[in-house]
Amino acid sequence: AALAASAVALAAPSKDQLQKVAEQAHAKFKDDKSGKNADYIPALAKVPSELFGIVIITKDGDVIKVGDVDTPFSIQSCSKVFTMCLVMQESGDKIVYDKVNVEPTGEAFNSITAIEEGDGRADNPFVNAGAIATVSLIKAKSPEERWDKIHKTYEKFAGSKLIVMPDIFKSEADTNFRNRGIAHVLFNSGNLFCDPLEATEVYTKQCSVGVTAEQLAVMGSTLANGGVNPITKEKCIDKKYVPKVLATMTMNGFYDGSGQWAWNAGLPAKTGVGGGIVAVVPGELTIVGFAPPLDTYGNSVRAQKAIEFIASELDLNIF
Ligand code: DON
Repeated sequence: AALAASAVALAAPSKDQLQKVAEQAHAKFKDDKSGKNADYIPALAKVPSELFGIVIITKDGDVIKVGDVDTPFSIQSCSKVFTMCLVMQESGDKIVYDKVNVEPTGEAFNSITAIEEGDGRADNPFVNAGAIATVSLIKAKSPEERWDKIHKTYEKFAGSKLIVMPDIFKSEADTNFRNRGIAHVLFNSGNLFCDPLEATEVYTKQCSVGVTAEQLAVMGSTLANGGVNPITKEKCIDKKYVPKVLATMTMNGFYDGSGQWAWNAGLPAKTGVGGGIVAVVPGELTIVGFAPPLDTYGNSVRAQKAIEFIASELDLNIF
């Protein structure tokens, strides 16, 4: 009987269960006004704060949607996961481990101190330094080729066409002096592998890619499904790399808020200052939350609460 009970507890939630819990999460947090839109990128401050969407996609391709799931927002740092996938698929996992490193910094996502305090490497692929270094590891002879590889990778993961949001890109490119500084610090110590301004420009473009919550969820579901997009059935990354990507999300997906997130939700996830969070239940499903207001670490408040609630209600915590 004990065995049978645990077998029931381990059964994947049904589509109806997922829909019900996603609706409950949306209703519970939709009027939560805490947090504040990012404003260091001026265009992000203008995005309506009340937007709120939740999407769950299972490894079988079931899609559950509630709220604002069709409104494009900038992918921002959620992109870093998929550029890491591109570099691993192109050059193996060791290059990321050796040249970027995979350690949490305990510092803000755009910290310069973190680079200086370590051995000069960028620490991990999800802080800005590491993401810019990851972009520089893509094999490319020109900025166009570098960008084209990223763009094609994201579209494959999303199974749909994606475009750069021009107002977000301009706003961020006009103000990204700190990231340009980070790229130069890395280049100076031999830890950036193309021209620093090229790396920053391409990185800024990848962050400005527009996704809907549903598109971001398809991207995440590809990681939940061992690297194969469950909607298009295309392989996007070798299965052997997926646990390393998920481990990096667990340790670094929320920057200096990663410990609290692991404690509260217990899922590998990645956030972006556009308000998106993509969380993965390995081998099962992905949960995406989207709501622009952020906490002090730069992570969406309502998206976190919604994903935590869903994970807790359905017993999805991987620990
Ligand atoms: O480089 C930046 O600052 C932004 N393009 C991305 C930062 C970000 O999304 C941090 N995440 N929560």
